[in-house]
Amino acid sequence: MPFLLLPSCSTKAETAQLFLYTDNDPFMDSLASRIESTFKEKGISLISHNASRKQSLQNSQFVSILQDNDKKPVLLNIYDRLSANLLIEKAENEDTPLLFFNREPLLSDTENTAWAKKNVYYVGTDAEYEGQAEAEIAADYFQNASSFKGSKFDKNGDGKLQVAILRGELSHQDALSRTKYSTDTLRKLGFDVDLIKVAYCDWQEEKGYEEMRKMMLEGANIELLLSNNDAMAVGAVRYLKTIMKEGESFSDQFFPIIGVDGTEQGKKCLEEGYMIGTVFNDATAQAEILSALYTSIVTKTEKPTFGDNVIVNGNFYKVKGTKIHH
Ligand code: BGC
Ligand code: CA
Repeated sequence: MPFLLLPSCSTKAETAQLFLYTDNDPFMDSLASRIESTFKEKGISLISHNASRKQSLQNSQFVSILQDNDKKPVLLNIYDRLSANLLIEKAENEDTPLLFFNREPLLSDTENTAWAKKNVYYVGTDAEYEGQAEAEIAADYFQNASSFKGSKFDKNGDGKLQVAILRGELSHQDALSRTKYSTDTLRKLGFDVDLIKVAYCDWQEEKGYEEMRKMMLEGANIELLLSNNDAMAVGAVRYLKTIMKEGESFSDQFFPIIGVDGTEQGKKCLEEGYMIGTVFNDATAQAEILSALYTSIVTKTEKPTFGDNVIVNGNFYKVKGTKIHH
């Protein structure tokens, strides 16, 4: 007798739909829990869907909620950001605004129709700055480019800085920007950068461990390890600890390591002297922007404004991080 259950619908708590690319990513875990708590404060509970790194699965999860979603904005951490146009099209058919976050759709997809220009948003981090900040932390550590040459940090004495990079996913905008801006900034600061290795680790700690192992076995002469995020750096550290010799400090034995995110594990590595720095990827600020945008869309009120740490470009909101180092 399902009609007996009907009255409970009227007291049902307000809900919103949250789509995550995976449930196995430390930064995303913290971002998702910040989003959940900011929405909870407004009395909205989130229904989350885990795509397990499969776009086809995420597409069907998305389609399955669209019709009954009452045109409420959907929070979308798309797995394959190059598939955004497909989901935007489906959302437009149901007049359902989209709040992309962390995995950025192409501007051209978000501006494809008049509806999309009005109803599609992106909230993420300022990865260009994070790359620049990684380089600045390194330059600081080496006491600038001119004193680097011939110093103990220039381990092979060739005057160049041998850099290895642990890279996030191939097409992820943050991996692209952090890689480009960290190396460009080092060059701008006067370092003669010799990029000896770019290892794709898809943001994952396990792959950071494995790629570090390979590089050490190959005898790579690394003078600086830049990681696109903390998780991969943590993996690298975990491997290096297995081959560390007693009686010599970690940083003297190996090379400085810098990450991005400022996750709990990343900060722990920093405190224990295994990493020299990281750049804070501000999950709280990103969650607050999402929540403010959600409310302004639902209540049809003016778009919220934010402080100087948020760069707004049309419907794209990017939070500037901060350096964390000794
Ligand atoms: C974070 C990574 C995370 C990725 C997921 C990036 O902004 O820095 O740690 O794995 O987003 O999309
Ligand atoms: Ca060198």
